[in-house]
Amino acid sequence: MAINRTSSHGEWSSRTAFILAATGSAVGLGNIWKFPYITGENGGGAFVIIYILCVIFIGIPIMLAEVYLGKRGRLNPIASIKYISDKEKRSKNWRIIGFMGILSGILILSYYAVIAGWTMAYSVRTAFGNLNNIDATGAAAMFESLVSDPERLLAWHTIFIIITAIVVAKGVKSGLESAVVRLMPALLVLLLALVIFSAIEGEFYDGLRFMLYPDFSQITWKSVLIAMGQAFFSLSLGMGALMVYGSYLSSDISIPQTCVIVALLDTTVALLAGLAIFPIVISSGLEMSQGPGLIFQTLTVAFASMPGGQLFGTIFFILLIFAAWTSSISLIEPMIIWLIEKYNVTRIKAATIATSFAWFLGIGTIVSFNIGKDIKIFNMTIFEMLDYLTSNILLPMGGILITIFVGWLISKEHIDSELKIKSKIIKLIWYFSARVIAPIAVIFVMLNALGFNINFFL
Ligand code: PHE
Repeated sequence: MAINRTSSHGEWSSRTAFILAATGSAVGLGNIWKFPYITGENGGGAFVIIYILCVIFIGIPIMLAEVYLGKRGRLNPIASIKYISDKEKRSKNWRIIGFMGILSGILILSYYAVIAGWTMAYSVRTAFGNLNNIDATGAAAMFESLVSDPERLLAWHTIFIIITAIVVAKGVKSGLESAVVRLMPALLVLLLALVIFSAIEGEFYDGLRFMLYPDFSQITWKSVLIAMGQAFFSLSLGMGALMVYGSYLSSDISIPQTCVIVALLDTTVALLAGLAIFPIVISSGLEMSQGPGLIFQTLTVAFASMPGGQLFGTIFFILLIFAAWTSSISLIEPMIIWLIEKYNVTRIKAATIATSFAWFLGIGTIVSFNIGKDIKIFNMTIFEMLDYLTSNILLPMGGILITIFVGWLISKEHIDSELKIKSKIIKLIWYFSARVIAPIAVIFVMLNALGFNINFFL
């Protein structure tokens, strides 16, 4: 039986508003910055296929489960889960999902803001024409000079955190809907234009081949874990962001269709980004596996040789800042709602506390590109470690707990009435994915990546 609890934080004005906000959360640096560089590092085509399989069989089922929890609980992630476990007579320890999510959000934001800062720096550089006539070597030198300067990185990081703090302090919903409705289509159009440019000017065939031709000899369990972690990261799963957005959803809205639309949009943007980047990487002789600087170096070369590249490039980087910004809002929102509900503080105070925390932690990432380059934890820099810990461990673990909780411990009638899946077959597929495929796949991949070498097929 569906209940009609309403959120004390208000509701989305429509289903479209929710789709927009969730897409705003999903589409961000993960699609345009991270997807191309990790695909480059992990050998291309085969990695892309594994990524897409993870989105379909793990991402979408978990997304439904997560939005369901938010829509039913209507509170911050910790309290929502506590409320639901009370109702279902389950242990209240499931709240751990909420705690882990809040922690993941802050940790991710701490480095996300640093990279968003790079995007800001590049938008200014492009606007002032610093990148005109730059070649691949010049682009590499420029990137190096930016990341080797901790003060400059700190300044951009601080600016980005302040902008995020201002918006979240005002309340997420005012402004977010209208910003996303205008910016997302613009970003898509610009990405398409970039793909066309790259088809004409770059080595399009080779780029396409790199991205689509599967060479499974390049794949290790670690790369499968990275592909799966990227599915969680890119769809904003496993940390409560969509739970919070789901809690503003009015009770008569059906969840599955909405989630599929968001996943489709998110994957389209990532694939377009790859199509735009790889042909240029090849034609300008850059390295596929050069890591986090990949798009900054490739795109600057592209903009430099493109007619109107200065204007186009500036608009592109500005849109990317907005995309990063709508994602960062959703990274911090679970903690903010929790602070407000639990400690009864004002939104402004909650926003100040949460963003200061993320700002402070971000210093670790900043120095990991320069003065702290040699600080290694498990052979990873601070940035790499934070990224690995969040995308490949915390988010998937949050995801497993969410599917097990929703798939196995909540009454079926209740799920059916909230999810509102009409088709019997789709319902069956969802239950099977959420109960069996998603949790087993995540555990299997994590254990193998840790070196346990489990193989069901031998
Ligand atoms: N999905 C966002 C991106 O791809 C990042 C993000 C991760 C946002 C987790 C919220 C939660 O850029």
